[in-house]
Amino acid sequence: KSTPRYDYIIVGGGTSGLVIANRLSEDPTVSVAVIEAGDQVFNNTNVTSASGYGRAFGTEIDWAYESEAQVYAGNKTQILRAGKALGGTSTINGMTYMRAESSQIDSWKKVGNNITWDSLLPYYKKSEYFEYPTEAQVLMGASYLPEFHGTEGPLAVSWPTEMVGANFSSTLNATFKAMDLPWNGEANSGYMRGYNVFPKTFDRSLDLREDAARAYYYPFTTRPNLDVYLNSFAQRLTWSNDNSSVAFANGVVFTDKSGAEQSLLATKEVVLSAGSLRSPLLLELSGVGNPAVLENLGIEVKVDSPFVGENLQDQTTVDTDYNASQNFTGAGGFIGYFNATDVWGNGTAAFSKSIKASLEQYANKTVQATGDITDRETLLKLFKIQHELIFEDEVVISEIIVNAPSASAGLIEYWGLMPFSRGNIHIKSANTSVPAAINPNYFMLDYDMKQQIATARTARKVASTAPLSNILTGETLPGLDVVPQNASDAVWGDWLKSVYRSNYHYISTAAMMSKELGGVVDDKHLVYGTANVRVVDASVLPFQVSGHLTSTLYALAERAADMIKASHA
Ligand code: FDA
Repeated sequence: KSTPRYDYIIVGGGTSGLVIANRLSEDPTVSVAVIEAGDQVFNNTNVTSASGYGRAFGTEIDWAYESEAQVYAGNKTQILRAGKALGGTSTINGMTYMRAESSQIDSWKKVGNNITWDSLLPYYKKSEYFEYPTEAQVLMGASYLPEFHGTEGPLAVSWPTEMVGANFSSTLNATFKAMDLPWNGEANSGYMRGYNVFPKTFDRSLDLREDAARAYYYPFTTRPNLDVYLNSFAQRLTWSNDNSSVAFANGVVFTDKSGAEQSLLATKEVVLSAGSLRSPLLLELSGVGNPAVLENLGIEVKVDSPFVGENLQDQTTVDTDYNASQNFTGAGGFIGYFNATDVWGNGTAAFSKSIKASLEQYANKTVQATGDITDRETLLKLFKIQHELIFEDEVVISEIIVNAPSASAGLIEYWGLMPFSRGNIHIKSANTSVPAAINPNYFMLDYDMKQQIATARTARKVASTAPLSNILTGETLPGLDVVPQNASDAVWGDWLKSVYRSNYHYISTAAMMSKELGGVVDDKHLVYGTANVRVVDASVLPFQVSGHLTSTLYALAERAADMIKASHA
């Protein structure tokens, strides 16, 4: 039987991959295949339910990767969740639609990319089908500026059908105001500081979660030039045998549901969109990576690309519980975004200076911890950019989500947004069934814990500030017996390390940066050293964004699709 042949093969039918598949297959003369390890989940109520966050965890649609023991954080491993389904992680995530600080996207320019917030904004809008809130929703806190939203894209973005009422939003607004944190009526504008009631990737008219498959695939299944291979696990790329100095990928080998090996041929391009904890592994399995990693495992080096799998960054989340005097119904998310000055007050300038003075030591420590792959000077450059983002551009660094209490209990979750620690991910075997070594190095660098502690103290202050303090009547986790009111950093640090989890915002494992800075792809997503392999997913973000990832990933994928089209026009 002859091997099926396509112009484009996309590996991973997830958040980013389905955008590419959709846009490329708009042209009926172009043929596109998607290889997706999971199944379709159109009728899976763990996915579709608007209030079902968490139900899919640990089920067959959660990869639930396990990290290495985290030596700087109590030596425990962490569960790293990611969606295994058509639609990828957008089928199991928290649905928060929140972009980035404009200065964060602008900073990508400093690492060699021709991208700015202004050039990405049209793509955020292109992807979006923004459903304006109803009058009732506006009264419950839904707020926006129309110039920042698109209404003709595929991705439904709106506020939940049944929002939390009973003045909970205004109670929070008064609380944050008392802490000098202003109301932000449009946090998706590139300026995030303040309190807001955020929109979600949610289809209000159907009362269902919106995921990448619902937005970008199901309405287009009749396209004869778009084939999706479900339950198909990509093993590696294949290369053409010509002698050119840049490698040309001509196909993908995968195993089907029965475990049988199959392959597809690509005439134009192969796009890796398997997620930040998979795409770098597929590169390595295909011979693109650090020779020291590949040769050890008997994999022939096709492209010497030392930084594949390096630069891994994530954030750390903590939940705290309260007794509540009042119960609420309805869905909705309430966030306070604080910057450095908000959390460190008068001490910010001195703190900024001390962190700046630590950057060399951070670079040294990172080089050591990641096996001498990245060099000190390069890391120092990256850390200086990050320091500028935090202390000069004053991007928000603390996210505090206050959930409306129910069943006499309230929940506040929070995380630090701009950790410096960097780890890595690498294959441990040429056999794809052997799990990779995933090491985020949580809390390796002391800024990260200081940021987490400052966030924790601020969250506790939110709970004890009126009028919210009339509703949240007592902290039960950690509780003042475990972490007293004036607890030292050491006490806070011990507790935070004992309870933290991954925030699931893993990025940068095939970073979009100049080659000199340790990049794996250029600003057109093309893998250095290859003629036709791109990575389009969370692997490419060079720095963390303070928003949640999907909005930015949809925008980036829209932009990448235009670039792919242009390069074959
Ligand atoms: P994504 O994971 O979407 O897609 C990768 C696809 O490739 C998957 O479908 C996978 O099955 C497939 N694949 C992997 N290996 C393969 C192989 N070898 N062969 C074939 N297919 C393969 N973001 C946000 O904006 N708001 C939020 O509220 C949240 N909340 C949240 C909660 C949880 C629990 C998680 C895990 C994550 C979030 N996030 C989030 C983050 C966000 O959802 C996530 O970063 C993106 O969806 C990732 O999109 P990608 O395109 O990078 O990969």
